[in-house]
Amino acid sequence: MTSAVRTQGLRKEFPLGWFRGRVLALESLEMEVKRGEVFGLLGPNGSGKSTAMKLILGLLRPTAGNAEVCGYRAGTISARRQIGFLPENPYFPTFLSGAELVRYYGKLSGMGGARLEARVVELLELVRLGGEAGKRSLRTYSKGMLQRAGLAGALVGDPEILMLDEPTAGVDPAGSREIRDLILELKARGKTVIFSSHLLEQVEDVADRVIILHRGQKLREGRLEELLTKKSEWEVKVHGLKEDGRKELRAWLENRGAQVMREGAPRDRLEDYFLRSLPEEKRR
Ligand SMILES: Nc1ncnc2c1ncn2[C@@H]1O[C@H](COP(=O)(O)OP(=O)(O)O)[C@@H](O)[C@H]1O
Ligand SMILES: [Mg+2]
Repeated sequence: MTSAVRTQGLRKEFPLGWFRGRVLALESLEMEVKRGEVFGLLGPNGSGKSTAMKLILGLLRPTAGNAEVCGYRAGTISARRQIGFLPENPYFPTFLSGAELVRYYGKLSGMGGARLEARVVELLELVRLGGEAGKRSLRTYSKGMLQRAGLAGALVGDPEILMLDEPTAGVDPAGSREIRDLILELKARGKTVIFSSHLLEQVEDVADRVIILHRGQKLREGRLEELLTKKSEWEVKVHGLKEDGRKELRAWLENRGAQVMREGAPRDRLEDYFLRSLPEEKRR
C-alpha cells in the first residue's frame, strides 16, 4: 500500500526581493507518513512546519524535490481530495454558527441536501459541539471551540488524511487536551493525522512518530520516546574561559542533567571545550 505522504528532497526557498537574497524555509526534507499514523512535526517558530504542510497540500510550489499524497502528486485534484486541512490561525466568518460553518465547508466540497445535514450533525457531535453549542455564533466560541469547529469543517468530505497546523496553539490546557483526544479518536477511526506544534508536550502523548525541524532542516526523526531517552553527545566550544568560568560552565551543564565527559583543549585548537550528554527534554 502506498504511504499517506511521502516527500523526497523537498525544498522551498522564498525570495526576499531585489538583492536581498532568499530565505531557505525547508531544506531537502525526506518524510514518510504511513497510513493510520499520527505524525507530529515539531519545531520552534520559523522552522519550516507550515511550509512543509503547504507544500504537501500543493498550496506552495517546491523549489526542488517532490511530495506525494496517497501516491498522487501533491497539488493535483486527486491528492487534494485526500486531505482535510486546518490552517494555522484560520479565518472564520464569525457571524456564522458552528453548524453553518461546517455546512459551508460541505457545500464547497460539493455536498448538499439531507446527506449534508446528517453529516453536519454527526461531525458536530464528534467534535463535541453537538446540540446548542453548534447553533451558537462563532463569535461566542473559545479558541478551542473554534479549532474544533474548523476540524469538523476539515472532516466534511471524509478525507483519509487530516493535516492540522498548530491545532493547540493558544488553546487553554483543557481545550488542548480535548483536541489531542480528538486526534486519537480520528486515528481509532483509521485516519492519518499530521499535525504540527512548537511545544513538545503537545505532541508527546499523541504522535506515533515525529520529525523535529530546526531552521528548515530535519534534526531528528522517530518515535518520540526513543528520541527522549536516547542520550546524545554535544560538544560545547568556548573561547578564552578562565578557571572560574570553566567551573561555572561545568556546574551549569551538570545542573541540567548533563554528564561532562571530557574537558580541556582539543589537539589543534585553542578553545576549551566540554563534551556533554544531555537528555533531550532538558535541553530547551
Ligand atoms: N511567504 C513567505 N515569504 C518569505 N518567507 C517566508 C514565507 N513563508 C515562510 N517564510 C519563512 O520561512 C521560514 C519557515 O517558516 P514557516 O514554515 O512558517 O515556519 P513554522 O511554521 O515552523 O513557524 C521562516 O523563516 C519564515 O520567515
Ligand atoms: Mg507555522
